[in-house]
Amino acid sequence: MSKLLDTRLTRALGCDVPVIQTAMGWVATPSLVIASVNAGAFGFLAAAVMTPDECERAVIQIKQAVGARPFGVNFHSFQPGAERIVDICIDHGVRAVSYGRSPSTKLIEKLKGAGILCVPTIGAGKHAQKAVDLGADIIVCQGGEGGGHTGDTPTWLLLAQTLDAVGADVPVAAAGGFRDGRGLAAALAFGADGIAMGTRFLLTSDSPTPEETKARYLQASVTEIPVSTALDGLPQRMVMNETLAALEQSGKLMMLVRALKHGMAFRKVTGASLTDMIKTAWAMASKTDMTLGQTMMAGNAPMIIQKAMVDGKPDEGVLPSGQVAGLIDDLPDCATLINDIVTGAEARLKAIGQTDAV
Ligand SMILES: Cc1cc2nc3c(=O)[nH]c(=O)nc-3n(C[C@H](O)[C@H](O)[C@H](O)COP(=O)(O)O)c2cc1C
Repeated sequence: MSKLLDTRLTRALGCDVPVIQTAMGWVATPSLVIASVNAGAFGFLAAAVMTPDECERAVIQIKQAVGARPFGVNFHSFQPGAERIVDICIDHGVRAVSYGRSPSTKLIEKLKGAGILCVPTIGAGKHAQKAVDLGADIIVCQGGEGGGHTGDTPTWLLLAQTLDAVGADVPVAAAGGFRDGRGLAAALAFGADGIAMGTRFLLTSDSPTPEETKARYLQASVTEIPVSTALDGLPQRMVMNETLAALEQSGKLMMLVRALKHGMAFRKVTGASLTDMIKTAWAMASKTDMTLGQTMMAGNAPMIIQKAMVDGKPDEGVLPSGQVAGLIDDLPDCATLINDIVTGAEARLKAIGQTDAV
C-alpha cells in the first residue's frame, strides 16, 4: 500500500487504511465493526443505543473476531450507564471512544488516563478548538451532507475551518459525503489525515440493516435526503418517505402526542421508568440548548428509527442518511469496499503527480 495512505490517523488508531467506519445506531453492530476492522478500516461500535451489558457483550464479540486489531466504541454522555460504558472500554482495552457532545472532564481524564483516544465529531468550525481543549486526540468533522444529526456547513468548508483551527495539533478526519477512493485522495490532498464514512458502510452486505430498508436507501436520489427537525427537534438528515412527510406536516401538539405514545412503547421495551426518562431528558435539557419537550422527543425517536432500521419496514419508520446515498447503487462487502477505496485513492494520487503512490 502507498506510503501516502500511512497518516497520523492510521498511526494513532492502529488501522491499515485512513478510513473510519463511524457509529450508527442499530447499524454499527458487532457484525459491521468486525467486517470493517478486518478489512483494514477503524470501526466504531454504536453503543449509544445499547445498555452497558449489551455494550460489553458486543465488545467481547468484536475482540474475539478481530484479535489484536484495534476498534472503538461510540457512546452518548447523557445515556443511562455512560460511566459503566467508559469502565467497559477501559477494562477491555478499547483503542478509542467517539461522541458528539463531550462527556464530563472527569470522564475524559479517566479515558485518557487509561490510554484511550478521544475522538469527538464536530459539525461547526467554532467547535474545533473547544474539542481540542476538552481533550480530543483526533477530530472527525462532519459536514452538512452527512447522515443523521448534522450541521449546516458543507463538508469542504468545515474541513477548511477545522484544519485552519487545529489541523497542526491533532489529526482530522473529514466526514459527510464520502464513499470512494477519489474522496479519500481529495481529503488527503486537502490536508486531512483520512475520512470517516457512515452511509457507505450502512450500504454494504456486512451491515445488519434489513434488505427491504437497504433497497429503499438505494432508490433515494441526492435531493430526496433533506435535513428535518420533525423527528426530534434537532436537524437530522433522513431519506424523505411517508413517515417523514407526515411528521413534517404535523404541528407541535401532534409531535408531543406522538412523543408520549412512543415514549410509553419505549418504556415497555427498555424497562426504563417514567422518572428515568424524565431525568435523562432533564439532564440533557439543562446542559444543552434543547427544551424539555425536545429532549423527550429525542428520547422517543429511537422507536420510530427502529421500525425501518431493525424491523425492516422502511415506510413506517425514518431512515437517517447522508446525501451520498443518492450516489450509491451497490452493496459490496467491506473487504471489497476498502480494497476499491485504496486502489481508487492511489490511482488519483498518482494521476495528480504523486509518483510514489503505488
Ligand atoms: C443510520 C445512521 C445512524 C447514525 N447514528 C449515529 C449514532 O448513533 N451516533 C453518532 O455519533 N452518529 C451517528 N450517525 C452519524 C454517522 O456516524 C456519521 O457521522 C455520518 O453518517 C457521516 O456522514 P456520511 O453518512 O455522509 O458518511 C448516524 C448516521 C446514519 C446514516
